Amino acid sequence: MIGTAIGGTIIIKDYMGGGACPSKATIKGKTVIITGANTGIGKETALELAKRGGKIILACRDMNKCEEAAKEIRGKTLSHNVFAKHLDLASLKSVSEFAQKINEEEPHVDILINNAAIMRCPYWTTDDGFEMQFGVNHLGHFLLTNLLLEKLKNSGHSRIINVSSLAHIAGEIDFDDLNWVKKKYDTKAAYCRSKLANVLFTKELARRLEGTGVTANSLHPGVAATELGRHTGMHKSKFSSTALGPLFWLLVKTPKKAAQPSIYLAVAEEMEGISGKYFDGLKEKQPAPKAEDEQTARMLWEKSSELVHLKDTLAIPVCEQNQICK
Ligand SMILES: NC(=O)c1ccc[n+]([C@@H]2O[C@H](COP(=O)([O-])OP(=O)(O)OC[C@H]3O[C@@H](n4cnc5c(N)ncnc54)[C@H](OP(=O)(O)O)[C@@H]3O)[C@@H](O)[C@H]2O)c1
Repeated sequence: MIGTAIGGTIIIKDYMGGGACPSKATIKGKTVIITGANTGIGKETALELAKRGGKIILACRDMNKCEEAAKEIRGKTLSHNVFAKHLDLASLKSVSEFAQKINEEEPHVDILINNAAIMRCPYWTTDDGFEMQFGVNHLGHFLLTNLLLEKLKNSGHSRIINVSSLAHIAGEIDFDDLNWVKKKYDTKAAYCRSKLANVLFTKELARRLEGTGVTANSLHPGVAATELGRHTGMHKSKFSSTALGPLFWLLVKTPKKAAQPSIYLAVAEEMEGISGKYFDGLKEKQPAPKAEDEQTARMLWEKSSELVHLKDTLAIPVCEQNQICK
C-alpha cells in the first residue's frame, strides 16, 4: 500500500509538472532578452537558453539581484555570454533608456521574452502614475516591445514571447477606469486584467507583424512555486506553509518545469512562423473568448500607445482592397 501511495504521488507530481521542452534546438549566435530574469521562471528560462548557446540579456530592475543571477548562470553554464542590464518596467523612462541601449549596442535581437510581472500588490502606481500591475505587466512590455520592433524585424525570424497566465480568463479591460480611480481597487482583478492584456496585445501584435517574419505568441506557464505570491501573504502564513505545504508540493510546478513553455516557444523548429497563438504549457489552446476580441485588442493597442506616448506605432494591417481590416 505504501508503495502504491508513493508511486501514485510520484505520478501525480510528474503529471502536474508538465512536460519538458521536446526540442533539442540550440541557439548559438542568437541574442535573447528576458525581462524579470533574476528569479523564478525568468531565471530558469535564462539558464536553459544560455545552455543552448544564446547570448542572454537579463533585464531586471534590481541590479544586485540581476548581477547575482547572471553570475550564477555563467557559473553553471560556463558561458561568458550572459549579461545583466537595468530595466524597470514601472518607469517609461527606464524602458526607453533600456531599449535605446539595446538598439545601439546589439547588432540583432532574435528572441524577446516578456516574462516579468508583479501580482496582487497593494494599490501602487508606477513612476508615470499607472496602476502598478497594468503598468508593469502590460504597459511596460508594450512600450519595450514597440521600441525594439525595428531591431527585431531587421534580425530576421525573431520571436516575441509574452508570458501571460490562465488568470486572463477572469480579466476585464475597463477602458473607463484602467487606473482603478472610480472602482474600489481589487488586487486580483487587476492582475487578471493585466494578464488578459498580455494575450490581447500578443494577438494584435501578431496581426500587425504579419508578413514581417517576426512572430508573437503568449503562454500560461502553469502554477509554479516562485516569488510571484510575495504580496499575497500566502507564503508568510504558517497554515499555508505547513498544512497546505505537501499539497502545494504535489500540485505546483518547479520554476524549471514552468520555464519549459517559454523555452519551447523560443527555440522549437516547429514554432517557426507560428504567430498569434496562446499556449497552455506546451500545447496550443484557445484563450478565453474575450482574449480573441479583435475590437478590444485594437482599442487596447491604441489606448496603450497613447498612454506610453508612442508615436511610431505599427500600422493596422491593410486588407487586400486597401481598406483597414475590420
Ligand atoms: N508562478 C506562477 O504560478 C505563474 C502562473 C501563471 C503565470 N505566471 C507568470 O510567469 C511570469 C514569471 O513569474 P514568476 O512566477 O517567475 O514570478 P517571480 O518569481 O515573482 O518573478 C517575477 C520577476 O518580475 C520582476 N519584476 C517585477 N516588477 C518589475 C519591474 N517593475 N521591472 C522589471 N522587472 C520586474 C521581478 O523582479 P524582482 O525580483 O526585483 O521583484 C522578478 O524578476 C509572470 O509573467 C507571471 O505572471 C506565473
